[in-house]
Amino acid sequence: MKIIMLGAPGAGKGTYAKQITQKYGIPAISTGDIFRENIKAGTELGKKAKGYMDAGNLVPDELVCDLVVDRLKQDDCKKGYILDGFPRTIPQAEALTEALKKQDDGIDFALEINMADEAIIERMAGRRVCKGCGATYHIVNIPPKKEGICDECGGEIVLRDDDAPETVKKRLEVYHEQTAPLIEYYDKLGLLNVIDGSKGLEACMADIYAVLESK
Ligand code: AP5
Repeated sequence: MKIIMLGAPGAGKGTYAKQITQKYGIPAISTGDIFRENIKAGTELGKKAKGYMDAGNLVPDELVCDLVVDRLKQDDCKKGYILDGFPRTIPQAEALTEALKKQDDGIDFALEINMADEAIIERMAGRRVCKGCGATYHIVNIPPKKEGICDECGGEIVLRDDDAPETVKKRLEVYHEQTAPLIEYYDKLGLLNVIDGSKGLEACMADIYAVLESK
């Protein structure tokens, strides 16, 4: 099962990808997480990506495409995968389609998590992430068991660097300009499924599972 998660920053892609991973045992590949891990480790890639991310811009396509295509060749992707945050531009989508075509392969589902910008801005204000393992919480909707402490690794829970209100606004602008055209791209390929992201976590997951079990 090969799945692409589309949707604006903060629509819930990472949260749902994690649940799909747990249910179907396929890896969730988040380009945002890959960049954040590289920033933390001080790699060349991390140094290059940081400036773009902190400003709310996209990292250039040439730094992203090969990285993802290589990752998909690893053994754990044989049964399938969830791409969270990739592709994000038409050139990225075309690079992915071409790379998969060469292996006689293709995506099964593109899930668009649809949410209004105002609702996203409100939700993002409550998002917190673990400094240690990157797990995501929401201070009201999906809180950790112990305030400020990660359920998974005991790490400290903090605001993400690019979640400052001004940066969130910029990320939403970039999403509408550069990423939203992918909705039409995947619709034309007959792969698009729209999920109403304004529902609660359980209701959203029920809608997602209904789509994934439909083929
Ligand atoms: P990335 O890390 O991919 O960020 P994003 O796409 O902006 O998405 P987010 O992680 O912010 O949100 P999400 O949709 O996963 O929502 P979440 O599940 O956390 O990318 C960061 C940056 O990296 C980009 O800006 C760019 O610079 C760069 N980058 C990454 N990929 C790139 C690419 N391919 N090309 C170029 N640059 C790239 O949920 C949000 C909140 O809501 C959480 O608090 C969660 O707990 C809560 N929540 C979720 N669902 C529900 C629900 N149903 N009910 C109530 N609360 C909920």
